[in-house]
Order: sequence, then structure tokens, then C-alpha cells
Amino acid sequence: TTVAPVRLAVIPGDGVGPEVVAATVPVLQRAAEGTGLDLQVTELDWGGERFLREGAAMPADAADVVRAHDAVLFGAVGRPDVPDDELVWGLIIGLRQQLDLAVNVRPVHAFPGVPTRVVDTDGVDLVIVRENTEGEYVGAGGLAHAGTGHDIGIEVAVHSRRVIERAARHAFELAGRRSGRLSLVTKSNAMRHGYPLWDRVVREVAEQHPDVELEVVLVDAMAARLVQSPRSLDVLLAGNLFGDILSDLAAVLAGGMGMAPSANVLPGGDVPGIYEPVHGSAPDIAGRGVANPVACLLSGALLLEDLGHTVAATGIRQAVSAALLDPTHHTPDLGGSATTTDLAAAVLDRMEI
Ligand code: NAI
Ligand code: MG
Repeated sequence: TTVAPVRLAVIPGDGVGPEVVAATVPVLQRAAEGTGLDLQVTELDWGGERFLREGAAMPADAADVVRAHDAVLFGAVGRPDVPDDELVWGLIIGLRQQLDLAVNVRPVHAFPGVPTRVVDTDGVDLVIVRENTEGEYVGAGGLAHAGTGHDIGIEVAVHSRRVIERAARHAFELAGRRSGRLSLVTKSNAMRHGYPLWDRVVREVAEQHPDVELEVVLVDAMAARLVQSPRSLDVLLAGNLFGDILSDLAAVLAGGMGMAPSANVLPGGDVPGIYEPVHGSAPDIAGRGVANPVACLLSGALLLEDLGHTVAATGIRQAVSAALLDPTHHTPDLGGSATTTDLAAAVLDRMEI
């Protein structure tokens, strides 16, 4: 039998993006070879350099280019000499919205042997499901009285039933496959419209998932709980802003930004997912070859898993886990002195598929 090739688009982007992506592609290739997959990689030069050269971070038909692939591995965008919103909106937020990638799934897994700034994180294993297309990041609003000294910035959050429902369904299904516990994160005591709608809609979806136990937690309480008792949590469902903030906080439980992978997906939809580290372009360490590639490697594992290649995905995770047990392979963010390529080579060495 022949298996259809996997058409992978790779967008290295800016800063440490190209460094962690370059470390990841050979590991994906090895996982593919080991499991009989034909991985066809197309590299796209989208990002800050393209913006400076051509005035846009990606081409006008970017969504169509992406649709011609099965999945995308994305590094990061952002460079100090270009306004942040040009690149972040001009690339990753733009793609999430144009492709309608409903949720951003952000697993946080504390690997044994990885030091963390928060004590007692052994066994932490949770997933944040972040709504990915609207909320506070929908881009609605404007500037009034600009430049008068009385400037008013208006940023309107949008929460629609359809979008809440589809994110909720994904979170319930995920929780059902995991521990059966789901925590909805809102702020309905202070915000009177959008988040109460979230609470109502998610409680309705809960009725179709009697196997999952739902709790509703205010975001400020959740921030404390993530630090104080993270093992009491399994799947968190949050809107765009809260999911963004809490996932950086949660990443610290697993060793920091260098450890946090993510998947932008439209569950059940016929659209390629975009897989990316949660971190940005890290200009403070870019160009030195010391970025931790684990977030990107684990994003690659999520990508293969979502395409149904579970053995290849598990192979990568096990190799990452084995490499991290040895502190000589830890990058500086983990307190070590290994380079990006040292850690990636240690992962390749430990691939058992
Ligand atoms: P950042 O995630 O790039 O960096 C935050 C801190 O984490 C820095 O100290 C950095 O050195 C560290 N860090 C990040 N990735 C690391 C890795 N792989 N290994 C070791 N340490 C790592 O966030 P920051 O500084 O707020 O943003 C930098 C740029 O990235 C900005 O232009 C921002 O807009 C952009 N950005 C892009 C994102 C994306 O492409 N999806 C997401 C977040 C930020
Ligand atoms: Mg973020």
C-alpha cells in the first residue's frame, strides 16, 4: 500500500523562528522516514524580511497557498525595526482569521529533569484551549480624537455563540479523551455581556457531554490556581485574551517559553492546521544559536498527531523527553549551556523509530 505524501509548508519567520524550525525539520524527516511517511517540505519566506522588501509579510493569496498543503509549521514573527502589529496581524493573526482556525490548543507538560521557576511541578500535564478568532483580538474599534491630547482608543471585544460553541465542543471532546475535567475561564463578575454568554453557551454544550465535569473559574482565580495547584487542572477553555495570557503563565510550570508548543486548528474543518511554538521571535537571544527548540519540536509532534501519524508523534515526544533527562543537553533558558543544535542532535540521537 502507498500512503499519500504529507505536504508540509514551513514558515521560519523572524528572530529565533528560523533557528528552532531548522532544528525541527530534520526531526520531522526522521520521524517520517521511521514510519514510512513521505514528507514533502515547502519553505515559505514570509515574515519581517519580506515585509521590508515587499511591503507585506505574506502574499495576498497566502490563505490559498496554505490551503494547498496538509499542515504548516511556523516559527515566529516580530522584529524590532518593524511595528509589531504589522507583522503579527500581517502574518499569524491574519492567517488564523483568514483560515478561520477556531482554536489554539496549548498543551503544558512538565517533562522530568527540566528545572522550573515554580516549585513542585512534577506531573503537571494540562491543555489550554484558547478561542482563536475573536474576543478581544477581533480587531474591532478605532481611535477617536487622535492627536488632540484627548485621544481615545476603543477596542471592542466580540464574542459570538457560534464561535464559543465550536471552541467548547473541541474542549469537551479533548477533556473526554483525557481526565474528564474541564475548567471554563471567564470574568463574568466584572464583564456583563460577553463572558456571561460564554458561561451560558458552554453550560449548554456541557449537557451533550455528561462524561465531562465542568467548572467555571474566574480568570484571576485561575491565575493563582495555575501556580498553587496546577495538578488540579486538566483542560482549560478560555477566550482569546485570557488564553493567551494564561498559556504564558502555564508554560513556566513546564520550564518556560522554550517548552510550550501550540496548534491552530479548525476541528472537523477541511483547513490545514498551523503549528507553532507559543513563544515569539525572542530578539533578545536571536542569532546566537541558543534558543530552546523543544517548543517547536513538540509543535511538530502535535502536527503529525493531528494528521493521524500517532507513532511518529509519540516517537518525537519520547526522544525529546529522553534528551531532556540529561542536563548537559539543556539550553540556557533551562539553566544549561547547550546550543539549539546540541539539543536537537540529542533528540535525533534518541529517536527510536
Ligand atoms: P518572546 O516569546 O519572543 O520572548 C519572551 C522571553 O522568552 C524572552 O526573554 C525570550 O528570550 C524567551 N524565549 C522565547 N522563546 C525562547 C526559546 N525558544 N528559547 C529560549 N528562550 C525563549 O516574546 P516577546 O519578547 O514579548 O516578543 C518578541 C517578538 O515576538 C515581538 O515582536 C512579538 O510581537 C513577537 N511575538 C510573536 C509571536 C508569534 O509569532 N506567534 C508570539 C509572541 C510574540
Ligand atoms: Mg502569547
